[in-house]
Amino acid sequence: MLDPEEAVDRLAAVMKAPPGHRVLHAKGLFCSGTFNASPEAASICRAAHLQGGTVPILVRWSHGSGRPDANDDAPYVRGMAVSFVLPEGKSTDILGQTVPRFPVRTPEDFVRLSEVARDRTALVKFLATRPRSAVALAANARAKALAPPKSYAEATYFPIHAFRWLTLSGHGTWVRYRLVPQATPRDRPAERFTGRDRLRDEIRARLAQGPVRYDLVVTVAGPKDDPHNPMSVWKGSRELVAGWLDITTPEDDHEADGDVVVFDPTRVVDGIELSDDPVLRYRPLAYRVSIERRSQPHP
Ligand code: HEM
Repeated sequence: MLDPEEAVDRLAAVMKAPPGHRVLHAKGLFCSGTFNASPEAASICRAAHLQGGTVPILVRWSHGSGRPDANDDAPYVRGMAVSFVLPEGKSTDILGQTVPRFPVRTPEDFVRLSEVARDRTALVKFLATRPRSAVALAANARAKALAPPKSYAEATYFPIHAFRWLTLSGHGTWVRYRLVPQATPRDRPAERFTGRDRLRDEIRARLAQGPVRYDLVVTVAGPKDDPHNPMSVWKGSRELVAGWLDITTPEDDHEADGDVVVFDPTRVVDGIELSDDPVLRYRPLAYRVSIERRSQPHP
């Protein structure tokens, strides 16, 4: 297995990531809001946040690079991390990004692809032995997945991995999530935002007008859909809206006083199980290294 310390060293080198920040998704904006589950979600999953009632959420929208000064106008993946805050200090997280097809199968390939992405010769060599990665990258390019969004509120975010939802009696269903915006161009603030922080400025103006709403869409696996491979393309047996996120308030100072906020896709609660997807299983190991490093005091 790729040593997580080495993975983070290599990602930090590619990103020219300065110390004291997330190695990826360094520039972000915290917001709070609420989540309300649909009755359909409760019918297939016993997890606490899906049983109805209003659940507080913490959201962080981000630019995927390791630079806290990243330019919002640059083409790049964007992130949306959501933590559902439950009683007794519990929580469960969903982390999405704007790329619909994850292009690699292993953590080693993720790090390597990050390294070769900007070197045409090295990229061609990498893809020569991974034709499926080439197909996934082409699909992402067609979907304009890296184009700078007009607004964080108008992008769709893909959490990629599959999770097994359990009913009270223990019946399991493999699902994948999608965070689908309800915002339309009509909801845009009157002011036009430009410059390297335009997405941050825009979302603040938008939230001043009212909540930003997302559907949590769930695809239920079909009989041949593979839940353990992040690259697998699902046919799906059906889709449902598991609930609605209403993001209401910017929380600008969330980490200003030295607080360390952590989103982790493997932080699940009773009623949700992880797949054996090697990328999902690896992520908390790499995130821990990044978190430890950014928690150290920095001049
Ligand atoms: C092997 C694959 C991956 C590696 C090595 C990796 C690595 C990292 C690292 C080191 C961080 C910073 C963590 C921190 O300091 O808190 C991070 C953040 C993040 N990653 Fe990944 N990542 C991987 C795959 C993914 C995938 C598949 C997604 C989405 C589907 C994703 C979405 C995010 C998001 C949204 C954040 C920002 C979280 C926040 O706002 O705090 N990553 N990633």
